[in-house]
Amino acid sequence: YFDNGNEIFKQARRNHYAVGAYNTNNLEWTKALLQGAEETRTPLLIQVSTGAAKYMGGYKLVKDLVSDMMDSMNISVPVILNLDHGDYDSAVECIKLGYSSVMFDGHKLPTEENLAKTKEIIKMAHERGISVEAEIGKIGENQGAEGGELASVEDAKTFVAAGVDKLACGIGNIHGVYPAGWTGLNFQRLQEIAEAVPETPLVLHGGSGIPREQVEKAISLGIAKININTEFQLAFQGATRKYIEAGSDQDKDHKGYDPRKLLLPGTEAITDAMKEMISWMGTPSID
Ligand code: G3H
Ligand code: ZN
Repeated sequence: YFDNGNEIFKQARRNHYAVGAYNTNNLEWTKALLQGAEETRTPLLIQVSTGAAKYMGGYKLVKDLVSDMMDSMNISVPVILNLDHGDYDSAVECIKLGYSSVMFDGHKLPTEENLAKTKEIIKMAHERGISVEAEIGKIGENQGAEGGELASVEDAKTFVAAGVDKLACGIGNIHGVYPAGWTGLNFQRLQEIAEAVPETPLVLHGGSGIPREQVEKAISLGIAKININTEFQLAFQGATRKYIEAGSDQDKDHKGYDPRKLLLPGTEAITDAMKEMISWMGTPSID
């Protein structure tokens, strides 16, 4: 049902464009992302974090929501369903549930243990045709004030040799809103890693708020998947706020209390923000 994305991302890396990986947070997000993919006729990677899955009611509910909505919206582009930043147990659960892709995020473990666990996940996933993403180095956390850590070229080679399909590398990127004074992506390290693993799609986490030139340069060097969450949350928030503040004076049909109306401008804003990112990433339409 879901595409595992392996060909999609390999082609992206080979041809120097990227495909967006967007987090879902609820029903509206899911709808907005599917809508954006269908309208642009581009492949979609829709992903859920452990926190968002808990909020939504579990991994099975997320999977059923995405697949049922694909049916009801007649989605005709490939959709990849990915677990984002999974721990070992959630990765196993999603593999058994039929997600087509999982990220095992072992960055908090010592490298040896990260590698050993990643290998176990790879074995389980590959037996079922499921794709695996691993993380090396450390992606910074703006909210947790946790600094990033550059991924090493050695680790990149080791994890690719172990069979990972996609590799998320710490290259100065940060989750959440980028702090003032952020020094930018480390292109030198990205280039070194890209040269060491010339076919593996590299993943840029923390894709919200990176200036366009840096996004384009990162793609030209080997980034093939860009993870975006905060950017769409800000778009949703801005449009929702505007709708509420406009009130009934400007809009005679304004019913601020009806969720089907209240949540619509924000939902549309997610689709618009997604289309903008697709144009930055140069994702080609499927004919
Ligand atoms: O895995 C998710 C992404 O890395 C999202 O990061 O919220 O900073 O866009 P972001
Ligand atoms: Zn991330």
